[in-house]
This record gives sequence, structure tokens and C-alpha cells, in this order.
Amino acid sequence: IIILMIQSIVFFLGAVYLDRVIPGAFGIADHPLFCFKTNNASTIDLSDIPTQDEYGWYDDEIEDTDVLMERQRLEKGEIGGTVIIKDMKKLYNSTILPNACHKSSVSQFALKGISFAIQDGQCFGLLGPNGAGKTTLISILTGLYGPSMGTATINGKDIRTEMASIRKEIGICPQFDIQWATLTPLEHVLFYARLKGISVEQENEHAMHLLDQVGLTDSATVKYSSELSGGMRRRLSVAMALAGSPKIVFLDEPTSGLDPISKRQLWDIVSTSKKGRSVILTTHSMEEADVLCDRISIIDQGRLQCIGTPLHLKNKFGFGYRLYVSAKPGEEESVQMVSNFVEKVIPSAKLVEQFQNNMVYQIPLEFQHPSKLTKIFSTIETNKTEQCIEEWSISPTSLEDVFISIIDKE
Ligand SMILES: Nc1ncnc2c1ncn2[C@@H]1O[C@H](COP(=O)(O)OP(=O)(O)OP(=O)(O)O)[C@@H](O)[C@H]1O
Ligand SMILES: [Mg+2]
Repeated sequence: IIILMIQSIVFFLGAVYLDRVIPGAFGIADHPLFCFKTNNASTIDLSDIPTQDEYGWYDDEIEDTDVLMERQRLEKGEIGGTVIIKDMKKLYNSTILPNACHKSSVSQFALKGISFAIQDGQCFGLLGPNGAGKTTLISILTGLYGPSMGTATINGKDIRTEMASIRKEIGICPQFDIQWATLTPLEHVLFYARLKGISVEQENEHAMHLLDQVGLTDSATVKYSSELSGGMRRRLSVAMALAGSPKIVFLDEPTSGLDPISKRQLWDIVSTSKKGRSVILTTHSMEEADVLCDRISIIDQGRLQCIGTPLHLKNKFGFGYRLYVSAKPGEEESVQMVSNFVEKVIPSAKLVEQFQNNMVYQIPLEFQHPSKLTKIFSTIETNKTEQCIEEWSISPTSLEDVFISIIDKE
């Protein structure tokens, strides 16, 4: 019996040790000698990673000045923050199956050297097209995958070595809902509140308050999560992310699939809850990013393309005002008539987009003075009926225009 007891202890310790050092599909494996090392960051086998030249990380393009400055200031330690990301790279090894007989492996850099910092009380927007690397970055920062190179600190703790302690301080709303089909919304939020250390006396009130904020009070105890609609599940994921009032919250497309009213409710929650914490938000809604984010970065093909406040990006990459005009539908040659009219009123206006009878013109700089804009307004308004104009407007550069101009440049 004594030998059996000793064996059980040895096997138990062995299992715990192997669980920590053998890399699994998710999480970050510890160094085999982690007990003896002060810094047990998992080392990367550099021979697996293609060289910088092979991928031409920085040499084939001019890095945006703000992105470069952010990186240099971080390297020199001139800026701090609750989240500091330094030269983060992620290499995925995927298996491809071109046909049933052959399979081969392909390495792909999803992140190619990302550096930036997020300060306390800030909502940082991570924008980018599909496949840009946004979810990959969030997955690394939340410990789902390890970085291939570079690192990040969250509240001063290194993601490679102190993930267990970081997990207590972060909340995550993943891109795809991860919920238990047979638990109610209240049980989900209680589970996370308890994990984050909310006391038993306070947890019920805390959970119900969060569910009230996301508009799930009525379903809190009467429905299983499998019985919720897609939008309701999304709102539950946000409540789960905020459970325990974590200092840093990651929201990966929190408003996808939400109706306009729920979306606005969620915007209110994010803007009130960002006080005293940092929020990292990814979204495909430029309006949402403009409303909520203090700073924004557009990421494409694993590289930061720009960084700054929404206003700074609009001033830097914007182009002043644009004229949006629709010709009357169903009337022959109305499009031609409208474009002739626009050319007459604003001689050097450039047609930047046309979809059926809708046209977008770039108003040249010499016409952007308020007095000239006023004249354009009155001329179009007076002549719109005889010139076959159905609708028209003049708008300043939106964040969406900035996004399209940056991504289209590629
Ligand atoms: N587990 C994985 N294994 C291999 N490649 C992956 C994996 N996850 C993502 N990728 C690849 O990494 C790149 C970035 O993907 P990621 O999911 O981070 O994009 P995203 O910016 O979140 O896009 P979306 O807006 O569609 O959510 C893509 O090319 C994708 O194919
Ligand atoms: Mg994503």
C-alpha cells in the first residue's frame, strides 16, 4: 500500500510536469527546467522560422511614420501602458491537402512585427480586413497561443511566463461564442465572477447587474444558452467578459450580429466601462470604432498600417470633402446629365466611385473653402430638379474612407 501511495504521488507529479512542458494545441508550454529558471519564457526554435529577408518585413516598404515612432519609443522605453506589445510575430504551420494523396505543410506569418502600447482608461480599436491578424493578436495576448517571436506585457506581466496570473486580470469576449448549452446566462456570468474572485455574497447582484446592462434580465434564469438567439448569445459573451470587473477587456467583434438598438446599448456599456480599465476592441464597423475608440490601428497582412486617434487618421489620410450624388433612376441619360452638371459646378472634381446611378466625387482642395462650399451647396440645391438629381450630400472624410484608402493602397 505504501508503494502504491508513493507511485500515485510520483505519477501525479509526472502528469502535472508533462502537462506544463509538453506543448498542446493551445496555451504556452513551459521550459523543461522551468523549476530552476527565474525567467522561464519558452524558447523558440529559430531554425523553423523563415528569415526576415525571405519575408522582407521592413525592407520592401516604408513603414508609416506614426507606427515607426510608436515602435521606436517602445524600444527606448519612452512610453508605458497596461498592455505593451513588442515586435510580436506569429508563424502558423498549416497542413494543406491539395488532393487526397498528397499533403504538405506551409508556414505563414499571421503577425509580422507588431509593436504598440495601450494606456489605462483607453479603448484601443484594432481594425483590418478579414485575415489581417486581429484575432491572432488577441489570442496571443489572452494566452490561447504563444508568440513565435517578440512578447507583450499586461499590467507589467510577461505573457510568456505569467499567463496564469494575467488571466485573473483580463476579460475576453471571443469572436465566436464559447458557452455551455445547458447553463443559463446567470450561471455563465456567476462562473466567471467566481473565477475572478467576486465574493459569494456579492456575486448574484454583480451578475444580475451585468445581465441587466446587456439586456438579458428576462432570460437570465429561464433559458439555457442553447435557447438564446445569436445576438443574445453575443451579449452574454460581453457580460461574461466584464464579469469580475477585469482591468483589461478584449472584445473581438462584440457587436457582430446585433440589432441597431442592442448595438448602441453595447456602445454605452463599453464607453462607461472603459473608465479605469483598458479595452481592446476589434470591429468591422468604422462607425463603432469612431464612436468608441480613443486610438485606432489598422492592421493588414500582419503589419500595422497606421496608428493614432480617429481624428488624426482622418486628417492624415483623409481628403477633405466628398460630394455624394444620385441621379434620378429610370430616366435615360440622367447619369450623364448629372456628371456634366457636376463638372460644370466643380470643374476639376474627380469621380472616385460609381455604383449604378450613385456617384462619389472628390472635391478638389481649391473648392474646400467654406465660401466656395456654400456656393456649391446653393447651386446644386437650386438646380437639382432640372439636372435630374435625386439626392445629394457633401460629407467630410469618414473613418471608412480612411480604411478603404489604406487597404486599397496594397
Ligand atoms: N489556427 C490557425 N492555423 C493556421 N492559420 C491560421 C490559424 N488561425 C488564423 N490563421 C491564419 O492567420 C491569418 C490571420 O487570421 P485571423 O483570424 O487573425 O484574422 P482576423 O483579422 O481576425 O480576420 P477576421 O476579420 O476575418 O476575423 C489568416 O490568414 C488565417 O488564415
Ligand atoms: Mg477575427
